[in-house]
Amino acid sequence: MFYDIIGLKMGEIMKRIGVLTTGGDCSGLNTAIWRIMRGAKLRGWDVLGIIDGTDGLYATPPSVIELNDDVLPVENTRLSGSVLHNGHAGALNFETAATRGLLDNFNKKLYKSLHDLKLDALILIGGNGSLSLAWANREIYRDVQLICIPKTIDMDIPLTERTIGFDTAVEQLTRFCDQLMLTARSHHRWFVVQSMGRDCGELALNAGIAAGASAILIPEIKFDVKSLVQHIKNSPTDYGIIVVAEGISLRGHSGRAADMISRGLNAAGITNRTAFPEHTQRAGDTTASDRLLATAMADTALNAIENNETYVMVALENGKCKTVSLADFVAAGESVADPNIAELKTANAYVSPDDPLLEIAHDMGIYIGEIK
Ligand code: F6P
Repeated sequence: MFYDIIGLKMGEIMKRIGVLTTGGDCSGLNTAIWRIMRGAKLRGWDVLGIIDGTDGLYATPPSVIELNDDVLPVENTRLSGSVLHNGHAGALNFETAATRGLLDNFNKKLYKSLHDLKLDALILIGGNGSLSLAWANREIYRDVQLICIPKTIDMDIPLTERTIGFDTAVEQLTRFCDQLMLTARSHHRWFVVQSMGRDCGELALNAGIAAGASAILIPEIKFDVKSLVQHIKNSPTDYGIIVVAEGISLRGHSGRAADMISRGLNAAGITNRTAFPEHTQRAGDTTASDRLLATAMADTALNAIENNETYVMVALENGKCKTVSLADFVAAGESVADPNIAELKTANAYVSPDDPLLEIAHDMGIYIGEIK
């Protein structure tokens, strides 16, 4: 539907919507929030930003802010983080409430807050855990339309080709490796760079290829340290980058992924250092591609509200945004038990064995593990 700048059209229904960001932050959140705000205003709707994710709904009174161009000016929408914040460490949330036996009360309070705020719809911008939790505790949202937008640098959400924040994270990690490559060359040595991504290798795989890494180790593919050592020893250069995803494991070893691999290289006489870009992967100015994705996802979320949809997630399929049901999202993911809540399963997606990037990496002489 097209809107003119005077907003509400004849016959349109006035709505009051809320938006919140939850889980780990990433770049692109502010673009999504701003686009939701602008698109909603064009429709003549009110938009409340909920501060600190579910913490804001748990607060009495709920912690909210009326969203407008003063709160989030366009020039700030490229910045990482979330103008609405993502929640306090240690605050009561679904997980801590469940472990303390307080989940019922927590859910009742969230339901009451949504009711008191008189929201017609809630747009929840979250990662894998947040979306799985929203579905697991869906009764809270029974009187509002719940529309989810997937964001995460981990790219571990099923049914969508992209998540907001991933492209910027790949860019950040690639730049980090680019810088290290020069000092690596000066000192004839190797850097073992540990990426984020939890138990998904997408970030390491994409940035590793982009940066010209000599090896990329991801949780989805078995690797062998002896083969890695041989590969490095046969390298045409005596320096370079080995990207290891934080989720890899090595039998008989513990500690950080990069340290485990570094020890193996040291033992074989390969001079190396470790490097940890950590949360810089979640930061950095949002790339144009992430801004476009955030804009398209915001638009699809608003259209879903107009179409009276609920319990849906916006997803990118064949380059176009659509909605899929949250039930399908949960069913499509590989169920991973939450370490804190026995009954909660997170719907993860991983690098699939037929991902074309694996073959490309292999054909380009990158050690990617023991793939055929
Ligand atoms: O899920 C996003 C993510 O950045 C992971 O890649 C990483 O393992 C984790 O969050 C870090 O969490 P925290 O911000 O609590 O250190």
